[in-house]
Amino acid sequence: MSNDKDWDGIVQADNKLPAWYVWTFIGTIIFAVVYMFMYHVTDDWTQARAFKEDVAAHVEKFGSSSDSSGENLSADKNPFSGDADSIAAGEETFKAICAACHGQNAEGLVGPSLADSETLYGSSEKVVFNVIMDGRMENLKQNPPKGPMPAHKQSLGAKKVWQVISYLDAKYNNIQ
Ligand code: HEC
Repeated sequence: MSNDKDWDGIVQADNKLPAWYVWTFIGTIIFAVVYMFMYHVTDDWTQARAFKEDVAAHVEKFGSSSDSSGENLSADKNPFSGDADSIAAGEETFKAICAACHGQNAEGLVGPSLADSETLYGSSEKVVFNVIMDGRMENLKQNPPKGPMPAHKQSLGAKKVWQVISYLDAKYNNIQ
């Protein structure tokens, strides 16, 4: 089929579009309308909602950030003292992080033994908490010095540090 246009014998074709092509085209229009409606009018597909759901899923799995860092926890008294779940969680943290320097059974390695009743800094909950949170980088007390004690404020946060203290105290009964 051709329309009337004829340029020096060259005619412009005017073929009927195949049905699949027309319907695909109409389909894209319908899709666009539905998509715009879902995205901008209803709340079903918005980024804000997707973000909220992701955050909720994360909190479900790992607890909220203030939970895990324990920003609001006391720095003087162990809120998890004697709590079985905390002791178990503390053991895990100890074996994964502290044992490298203090030994699997806290018998001492690069860092001093945490299993006995001798201490460099003291054995009150408050002192132990601060040493672990802030670390000790200078004026080291081991003689001869074997290295610094890294801070765990950022990497673990108050909650996990208190849990480790729960574990150590439950096992060695040497923290007051
Ligand atoms: C990189 C090695 C290293 C890691 C990891 C480490 N420590 Fe230490 N820690 C040390 C050293 C070294 C000292 C002694 C610092 C000094 O000489 O003053 C120390 C000291 C301490 C003290 C004070 C001991 C005392 O006698 O007063 C405590 C408590 C302690 N560490 C607990 C922990 C806990 C709990 C962890 C895990 C969260 C940990 N440390 C991880 C090396 C480490």
